Amino acid sequence: MNNVSLQSIQFLTLFPELISPALQVSLLGKAQERHLMQYGVTQIRDFATDRHRSVDATPYGGGEGMVLRVDVLHSAWQSLVQRHPEKRRRTLLMSPQGPHLTQEKASALLAYEELILVCGHYEGVDERFIELCVDEELSIGDYILTGGELPALVVADVVTRLIPGVVGNEDSIAHDSLEEGLLKYPQYTRPREFEGLEVPPVLLGGNHQEIAKWRQAQREQRTQLKRPDLRVKHPKK
Ligand SMILES: C[S@@+](CC[C@H](N)C(=O)[O-])C[C@H]1O[C@@H](n2cnc3c(N)ncnc32)[C@H](O)[C@@H]1O
Repeated sequence: MNNVSLQSIQFLTLFPELISPALQVSLLGKAQERHLMQYGVTQIRDFATDRHRSVDATPYGGGEGMVLRVDVLHSAWQSLVQRHPEKRRRTLLMSPQGPHLTQEKASALLAYEELILVCGHYEGVDERFIELCVDEELSIGDYILTGGELPALVVADVVTRLIPGVVGNEDSIAHDSLEEGLLKYPQYTRPREFEGLEVPPVLLGGNHQEIAKWRQAQREQRTQLKRPDLRVKHPKK
């Protein structure tokens, strides 16, 4: 993978307690331990200025729900930028209004040194924050979550997995479902037989050329069957 600059992912959130534990375990935890990625979690409420520490207010013009205030969000965002003004960074607002996260989008994000992931809540954020600070909005799918924390974790997980050294075997990334617009081939492990179901004999023969041929054919077949749309998006090379 070329052009990997990403070193840091910063979360702006009202619920750090939702995000921080997820960063401690599995590959994300290991990525931090091995200094392959640094995560930071900033509580937006710390930048509220009134005595109630309010971060939201009712929308001008009326309507339902509360809107996150531009002044509070802006101060929280600025605190991150001012820490390392020189960094090549991208600010992403988690939003059902953005284009969907894809594997390609995740790869493109590796070119930045730092990502700031802004987690919305309530009815959303004041539009002026988007105008002033947000480079792009990103959705994880056509459904509405209560907040941007889970989407931000999804983005961090997908992107971190692409950092060289995070996944033990780099080949496993190259053969992931969706790479080159093909799904992954079926996989088997011990036991060799279970409830009458056998592992395909070609995988037991030790002929690596035959195995590679079989796997490639399986990838083509199951993509055609399960996700024919992928082949339209990524025509055969
Ligand atoms: C209840 S939603 C607000 C939805 C807003 N009223 C709208 O219609 O666009 C609260 C927050 O959750 C996050 N969110 C909800 N669904 C999302 C999705 N599919 N992808 C990314 N973020 C999402 C966003 O940060 C959003 O600001």
